Order: sequence, then C-alpha cells, then structure tokens
Amino acid sequence: MDTRVLPASTEYVQEAAKEFLRDTPVVVPTETVYGLAAPITNVGAVKNIYVIKGRPQDNPLIVHIASYEQLNVLATQLPGYAKYLLDAFWPGPLTIVVKATRDIEHVTSQEGTIAIRMPAHPFITALINAHGPLAAPSANLSGKPSPTTAEHCLADLNGLVGVVFDGGEVMHGVESTVLDISEEQPTILRPGVITQDMIEDVIKRPCRVRSESKKSPGSRYAHYQPEARVIISDEPETEDVQGLGRVLIISKNTPIYPSTHIPLPEEQADIAKHIYAWLRQADNEGYDTVIIQTITDTGIGAAVMDRLRRAAKHS
Ligand code: TXA
Ligand code: MG
Repeated sequence: MDTRVLPASTEYVQEAAKEFLRDTPVVVPTETVYGLAAPITNVGAVKNIYVIKGRPQDNPLIVHIASYEQLNVLATQLPGYAKYLLDAFWPGPLTIVVKATRDIEHVTSQEGTIAIRMPAHPFITALINAHGPLAAPSANLSGKPSPTTAEHCLADLNGLVGVVFDGGEVMHGVESTVLDISEEQPTILRPGVITQDMIEDVIKRPCRVRSESKKSPGSRYAHYQPEARVIISDEPETEDVQGLGRVLIISKNTPIYPSTHIPLPEEQADIAKHIYAWLRQADNEGYDTVIIQTITDTGIGAAVMDRLRRAAKHS
C-alpha cells in the first residue's frame, strides 16, 4: 500500500474517513507520541492495528476521547476523586483505567476494565469529533521505540498504512501515565510526565507505583528496544568501549574513549522528549551500542528510567 504523508491540520481530517472505510488505521500525532488510530466501532480497522504493529492480541488498546459524554458512555463506577484528577490533567497525558460499561473487542481487558485518555492535540480531537472514540497505541512496530516524529512512524510503517498525518515533533516524547483507578487504591501502571507527586497532590491520597505490573498486560512484552545494545551507566564517560563495536554515548560529560557523544540535557523534560529519537538514531546510523547516563528516578525521570530499563533488557 502507498503511504501518503499529509499535514496534521484539520482541513485534512476527512482523508482519514477513506482509510477507515477500507479498515485501515491512520497515524496521528498526539502530545505524547504518535498513535496508530482507528474508531472503536470499526472492528476491522482496530484488528488491523494489531496486524500492522505485530502486537500481542492480549494487550488492550487505549481509547482516546474528546468529551465527558464519551467517558460516561464507556466508563462506570468512577471513584469520587476522579473528578479532581480529570479537572487537573485532561486534556493531557494521563490515561485512567476504569470499569467498562460493556465489552468492546480489543479495547476492554479480561477484567472488564478500559484505559481512556483525553489527548491535548487539536488534530486527534477533530478526528474523534468526526469518528467517535479512537483506539490508538503508539505508531511503532511492536517492541520498537515509540515514534516522536512522522519520520519515525514512516521508518516502521511505510507501506503498511495509507496515511501518516505529520504534526512535527511531539510535545512530551514519552507515552501517557497509565493510572488504574478501578480498585480501592490508585496505582500507576506506567509512569509518564504526569508524575506520582502531581497525582497525589490532586487526589489527596497515596498512589502506588507498579512498574513491572502484572495488571498492565503490555508490561510483559519486550518494549522500546533498538537493534543496538543499550547500557545504562552512572559514568558513561569513563566506560571502556573496547569490544562494544561502534558506540554512541549520551552523557553530561565528554567521554574519554573514542565514541560519538550526545550531550545529556539538564532538564528531565528535555531528556524525555528526545529519548526515543536517540535510540532510533543509534540504529539509523549503525551503532552497535548505546551507553546512556543514569538519570534521577524521580518526577519525569521515573518515566524515562522505566523506558530505558526496558530498552536495556535484551533477551
Ligand atoms: O501516550 C499514549 O498513551 C499513547 C498515545 C498514542 O496516546 N498510546 C499508547 O498506547 O501508549 P499503547 O497501546 O502503546 O499503550 C497502552 C498501555 C499498555 O501498556 C497496555 O497494556 C495498557 O496501556 N492498558 C490498556 N488497557 C488496559 C487495561 N484495561 N488495564 C490495564 N492496562 C491497560
Ligand atoms: Mg507502545
């Protein structure tokens, strides 16, 4: 299939309708990462999300909505504090896992829960307004680093999708925080730029963090892995690179052994924004090894370290 790249501007929204008619999902920017999106009512297109990505069938998709009416149709039994949470963080990079009102194929989990978020990007909002709630995982091949530019999406999905809507580089660079509020105690299943502190501040109660959660079906599988080997190091600049092939080092200080160096930004948010692009760059430019500096595991750093640990976990 030919893949067209169109601007992610609202006058092109109707181009998606043609793709959905032939059961093909479309690539769209969000504020977190690019998504591969299909209306939840179009079961054929939703199934094709799994086929195109090579995604395991038992890993449900996040549903993207544009209104509280849509939330009420899909979700039930929200705890009282949900109102404060959504007031504070929607639209934005927070996904809530809640009880679903009904079973929707590939969207609700075996436990009868559903993951929902209201994204903050005018293009996907327009697409939701035209087609209803959209199921959308990140627009990468399963297991690869998530895409933060249209070029990353094309690198994985060229020829597999009909349209990539190009909205330039995304704002955040890591996927939304996934927060399970379907049970008594709220639990972060996937850290993101909405941090544990930010959530606890708003809901006025403790929130657990489960990084290797059994409850988030996605956490069982390989994730975010480039071809290059990824090593996390406290002092990358002093690592002996012999025997590691061509090495890319991402660190505050300049490495003492010969290698290519990318300076690590000071701000955690800037690291989050570029982390996946660096991993992809390593593969594009043929590096064998990426050595990246450990960053503080608090705030947004928790989200970055979560992704890096998985990227470094080569089987
Ligand atoms: O920022 C994001 O969330 C991006 C953009 C495109 O919106 N989407 C995204 O979707 O990252 P995906 O499918 O790659 O990640 C969904 C995560 C997976 O870890 C999945 O296991 C978990 O959410 N998930 C989905 N439904 C769930 C449910 N009912 N219960 C627990 N975890 C769920
Ligand atoms: Mg993903």
